[in-house]
Amino acid sequence: MRVVVVALLVVAVLIVASQRRATADAAPGMTGELGAGGSAVGDISKSGGETDVIGVDLVQGCKVDVKWSAGFAATVDVLDPNGSETAIGLDNPRSATVLGWQVPTTGHWRFLVRSSDETQGGYRLTVTPKWAKSIKIAGTDATTFDVPMPADGFVRGVVRAAKNASSPRILSFRAPDGAELLPAPVDGTARVAKWTGVATTAPGVHVLTATAGGTSRAFTGTLTRRVPKTPPTHLDLRNFLDSVSYEKDGVADYFRHSCGPCHGFASSYSQTRGYAKTALSTMRSGVMPLVGPRASPATIELVSQWIRTGYQR
Ligand code: HEC
Repeated sequence: MRVVVVALLVVAVLIVASQRRATADAAPGMTGELGAGGSAVGDISKSGGETDVIGVDLVQGCKVDVKWSAGFAATVDVLDPNGSETAIGLDNPRSATVLGWQVPTTGHWRFLVRSSDETQGGYRLTVTPKWAKSIKIAGTDATTFDVPMPADGFVRGVVRAAKNASSPRILSFRAPDGAELLPAPVDGTARVAKWTGVATTAPGVHVLTATAGGTSRAFTGTLTRRVPKTPPTHLDLRNFLDSVSYEKDGVADYFRHSCGPCHGFASSYSQTRGYAKTALSTMRSGVMPLVGPRASPATIELVSQWIRTGYQR
């Protein structure tokens, strides 16, 4: 009887252990949506080749600031709405910033974050569309201008006759699908045409056509763009990191060698554990080690992951 009970216990323990392993090995990639823009924090674990996918809806012609940084060697790939990889200048191992990237296609873009060398850690990605409020135009005769607009935007403007010109007009304002949004051309006085504006419904590049009469037929103008105020989305895609071991992953070695000569705590697991958060903050600020090289970003990340993943022995 006792043998049977023991055998059952062993089986139960094995089942629990295998389930633990299964979850640890699965390392599911996380998916999230930033909507019209915002920021995401997440992490990539060592096991399982995890890839996080962050979606964002972008509008052709809009200028977008993209930033990411990671506590590990990360690769960030950008997929356009058709799923094709697009190089926007994000290829760096730990962080990258691209300011004013002009979106080539309207639709659902995806940012894929993974580890490039099986190190693990946390990352942050920020995607911020920037809609300039005013757009300057200048032309001669009938001239067309691209006007990128989000859905639910509004655009109005003023066109002025330049030297030796008169009767500026706005002839047309077309939606991305070609539909005319002006009920009638906008005529003004001899010098200026004031357009009270229209609302936009479809995101994308709209096309405005303006003109002027007189000898030179030249004009200048300013369009004023209003876009809906969407608060940035904040995503938290952190799921888990593989636990970092004090003995096996180099935490003990670092403390023993770099702090041990002056601090007794640094040679004992339990004391290092007790001082870990204070120690990490002195390493981050560069106050410690008092002598010797400053703790590298990789060491700081290692110690921080050891703390975050539960101080494994
Ligand atoms: C060369 C000797 C030396 C080394 C190496 C050294 N320390 Fe120190 N540490 C000191 C001394 C001396 C003090 C006390 C100085 C003070 O309080 O101003 C101190 C103070 C500290 C304190 C307390 C500071 C506070 O703000 O409370 C911490 C925590 C600490 N060290 C952590 C570390 C860590 C972590 C390392 C290794 C990365 C390290 N030290 C390496 C000499 C050293």
